[in-house]
Amino acid sequence: MSFPVQRPRRLRKTELLRGLVRETRLSAASFVYPLFVCSGSGVRQEVSSMPGVFQQSVDRIVEDCREVESLGIPGIILFGLPEKKDPRGASSLQKDGVVQRAIELIRQAKLNLLVITDVCLCEYTDHGHCGVIENNEVANDPTLAVLAEQALSHARAGADIVAPSDMMDGRVAAIRKKLDENNFQDLPILSYAAKYCSGFYGPFREAADSTPQFGDRRSYQMDPANSREALREVALDLQEGADMIMVKPALPYLDVISRVRQEFSVPVAAYNVSGEYSMVKAAAQKGWLDEKRVALEILTGIKRAGAGIILTYHAKDAARWLK
Ligand code: PBG
Repeated sequence: MSFPVQRPRRLRKTELLRGLVRETRLSAASFVYPLFVCSGSGVRQEVSSMPGVFQQSVDRIVEDCREVESLGIPGIILFGLPEKKDPRGASSLQKDGVVQRAIELIRQAKLNLLVITDVCLCEYTDHGHCGVIENNEVANDPTLAVLAEQALSHARAGADIVAPSDMMDGRVAAIRKKLDENNFQDLPILSYAAKYCSGFYGPFREAADSTPQFGDRRSYQMDPANSREALREVALDLQEGADMIMVKPALPYLDVISRVRQEFSVPVAAYNVSGEYSMVKAAAQKGWLDEKRVALEILTGIKRAGAGIILTYHAKDAARWLK
């Protein structure tokens, strides 16, 4: 029986009714807020292509974390801007590196906040690639040892979760092994399992100062045209010991989020990346879009597609809007 018996509009009449039948509920509890930590003190430099996002020294990061905690956001993810870069990203392993010191200070502040770290080389290498270079190529196996050491050094500093984003083959296994050998068998790995080679990372590369100095990332990040391959990447990372997996970027890959959600039983995260944020900001600044409305619609869409965890630069704004 259809119209006039069936009338879907009956359930859209009032906000109370719409709320009762709402299928997806967005809340700050699913957000992770990305932070860029640099050296020095008192530094808070806005990223020109990402209004409202800052490169900050460790002291300022801790202040920001207090605000994040007070908004009910459960976690942050840290990206480091080291003082010195070299071909092998040695500054990513230092006990007193920017990320390591940030973790320690956040720990000392006793905040109720999960500290996630991005494990990768691109912010620390002078060539800007996510691995070490041999014979003019990003060399997979030699990179694994550096990534594992970096993850261990984050763990020692007090990280709650490590998140490898480099897309080298076998890195989850290498990191798991290194952590286990050093008594961090309980430290979870959130793997950027399906990370696409995307133009939407543009503003991030300014924020993290990590633009590749030659070539591009196509030999390690995924081809945007592939989704079966994403399932393979996720399956491999889970076999290697990943506890949670991520799809990145989010908006152009909602189908991938949805497929991964259906095929696997682990927590699925999605990264609402820099370019997705900057597009909204720019259009809003021109008066072309209502920022609050579209940002919440985008985040709802990512959640509806199947992401239980959303990494987003809009986390603090969205948490306020949702209050
Ligand atoms: C690599 C990394 C990137 C992002 C997170 N981790 C950039 C890249 O692969 O070039 C992008 C995040 C964003 O665009 O917001 N360490």
